[in-house]
Amino acid sequence: MNALSARGDVPVVEAMRYSLRGGKRLRAFLVLESARLHGVGERALPVAASVEALHAYSLVHDDLPCMDDDDLRRGQPTVHVKWDEATAVLAGDALQTLAFELLADPVIGTADRRIALVAALAKASGAEGMVLGQALDIAAESAARPLTLEEITRLQAGKTGALIGFSAQAGALIAGADPAPLAAYAAAVGLAFQIADDILDVEGDAAKAGKRLNKDAEARKATFVSLLGLEGAKKRAADLVEEAEAALSFYGDDAAILCEAARFVISRES
Ligand code: IPE
Ligand code: IPE
Ligand code: MG
Ligand code: MG
Ligand code: MG
Repeated sequence: MNALSARGDVPVVEAMRYSLRGGKRLRAFLVLESARLHGVGERALPVAASVEALHAYSLVHDDLPCMDDDDLRRGQPTVHVKWDEATAVLAGDALQTLAFELLADPVIGTADRRIALVAALAKASGAEGMVLGQALDIAAESAARPLTLEEITRLQAGKTGALIGFSAQAGALIAGADPAPLAAYAAAVGLAFQIADDILDVEGDAAKAGKRLNKDAEARKATFVSLLGLEGAKKRAADLVEEAEAALSFYGDDAAILCEAARFVISRES
């Protein structure tokens, strides 16, 4: 937010600030905790802010009439409802570039480490990551048949998995350490997160979730719940949490908080 304080009160900047408020901050938390695990917690703040800016951009655009056409996000009117569509598109655009500006902060470390983070965030967000997942999700709405479990898993790996993957690996990238255990952890957590999102869509409380629910069934979308059943989806999510915990055995007790975060992901109400 401080990064925006010098940018005045034009509507697009107000809309950016607005869209950054609230939320669980799961991705920032994963950045900070993976950094703490590698002893570089004090260098990770701009990276945590960066991933939340990128995520906020993805939500502002996800809610647009041409995407999910939602009017409620984090318990508040969506940006295009509060302002207008052009402001929402532009606020999203500027949040995305802000994310990369934040990764240029010398506090994070040497130029090579920052370039590694820039490349990793670009890959996680773009046509191999979040944007790919969003495109597959939108295409699925007008497809002739519902997606298979394999297809939906690929969709998820982009839509939600890639950014969660970046967040969990960020600490290792800042420290120049091997990100492989955190990548394995994040693959399981990311999938569990999306299964929980699909379960929430069916049996969540809209007031607690802060967004409209039952959207997937209304759109007749294949989800982990429609494919596995509610109990099957819950069982799969619980198994994934165990997988996530096992992936961090390398770190021993130091990883207890990340293990708790994995459990939180499937028990969350928002
Ligand atoms: C919601 O993400 C959108 C998805 C990627 C499924 P979060 O559930 O992390 O949203 P906030 O940031 O807490 O609002
Ligand atoms: C949104 O997924 C994912 C991204 C913004 C990348 P959804 O469309 O399922 O998220 P909600 O349910 O609107 O939060
Ligand atoms: Mg969507
Ligand atoms: Mg949506
Ligand atoms: Mg959803």
